[in-house]
Amino acid sequence: MTAIRNGVPWYDTDGEVVNAHGVGVVAHDGRFYLFGEFKTDDRNVFAGFSCYSSTELAGWTFEGLALPPQVDGLLGPDRVGERPKVLRSPVTGEFVLYAHADDLAYADPHIIVATSASVTGPYVIVGPLMFEGRALRRWDMGTFEDDDGTAYLLTHEGDIFRLSDDRLTIDEQVAAAVAPGGESPAMFRSGGAYWLLVSNKTSWERNDNLVLSAPSPSGPWTPRGLLAPEGTLTHNSQCSFVLRLADGRHIYLGDRWSFPRQASAATQVWLPLNVDGGVAALPEYLEAWTIDREETFRPVRTRTDVGFRASREGEHVEVAFTGDGVEVVGRSAPDCSYGLIEVLRDAPRDDVPPGEVIVLSQIVDWYSLVPQRGTRWVSPPLPAGDYRIRISATGERPEWRKKDGTRFGPTGSLVDVETIVTR
Ligand code: GAL
Repeated sequence: MTAIRNGVPWYDTDGEVVNAHGVGVVAHDGRFYLFGEFKTDDRNVFAGFSCYSSTELAGWTFEGLALPPQVDGLLGPDRVGERPKVLRSPVTGEFVLYAHADDLAYADPHIIVATSASVTGPYVIVGPLMFEGRALRRWDMGTFEDDDGTAYLLTHEGDIFRLSDDRLTIDEQVAAAVAPGGESPAMFRSGGAYWLLVSNKTSWERNDNLVLSAPSPSGPWTPRGLLAPEGTLTHNSQCSFVLRLADGRHIYLGDRWSFPRQASAATQVWLPLNVDGGVAALPEYLEAWTIDREETFRPVRTRTDVGFRASREGEHVEVAFTGDGVEVVGRSAPDCSYGLIEVLRDAPRDDVPPGEVIVLSQIVDWYSLVPQRGTRWVSPPLPAGDYRIRISATGERPEWRKKDGTRFGPTGSLVDVETIVTR
């Protein structure tokens, strides 16, 4: 059993970083299929939608790009592609993928519809999602499938549309503007109520996401406060999807974005959703957990205090360790930014001159608007042996702006390492 570890890059079964963001999950034939934005580390440009599969929501196998970059059209060159979600049509048996397609200025929003006979794809774009004879011009979107098989498309501001049974078009708009100012909508049903989660509009920055509830998807929708304790910025995440397990539990899937190095350093925040008290909530942050609730974490073997704080490019610390894996614990904060983590070992003795081999190297984000102490990186499994871990400041200080021009981003380029842990 592999754990779901929040806020650290995940490695797939080939040892590559899991590159899937703004995700949705579909359960099919005993496996979970994860669809997400396949990001790059430089430009915010569509690079495909990825698909991974797993039986336990951890230990993901890369299934390839479900929808690759297109030569032209709504997801052609210099376009943005976001928030892919997959539903299966109960009448045709086809899998249907919906996603937000836009230009790089977010001034040409569409929702694309693409279909595939097999869950992993390749999906072929059918066209833009139409409503009342015209392309629906919306951006952030999500999907929800009810127990009776009725499916809905959700958009920013809280518009809710019932989809046709073939899933290719919209039958009817059932709710309008129930969450003004809301983005990244996600929905689920529990305890006789429907629950809608939305974020506020702060671009890649995190904020305190909101909850609404209603007796039916058409409403009336009532605001129910914040999803997570105030000021935690939804445990430093933005809602993307809610997954219901076969036993009825619900799991919140959220993004901890990292602009511009989203491919390397954006991470997942997945938490059990609590709806016991009559309100949907994420009361606490868990760094690591498993869906079978078994405690399977290996005990800490060594813990080396490091106390490294550096901002200038190239400043670094090195710690030797013996084992088959290593973890880095530190503090994220508003004045922190990207660090480079490298695992090294000595080159074979007969190498002249004797040198070192970089076993792996990973960019990790130390930034968060709300400071948080915790695990920042966990290596993939390594062959047991003697290694060194080197952590360097990159000196980068990225910034980004939301549509009204507001600037976001770190106020410094600090990397703050507290301890190195082996298990
Ligand atoms: C967010 C949105 C993301 C992405 C980003 C771009 O608010 O939820 O999906 O579009 O803005 O700034």
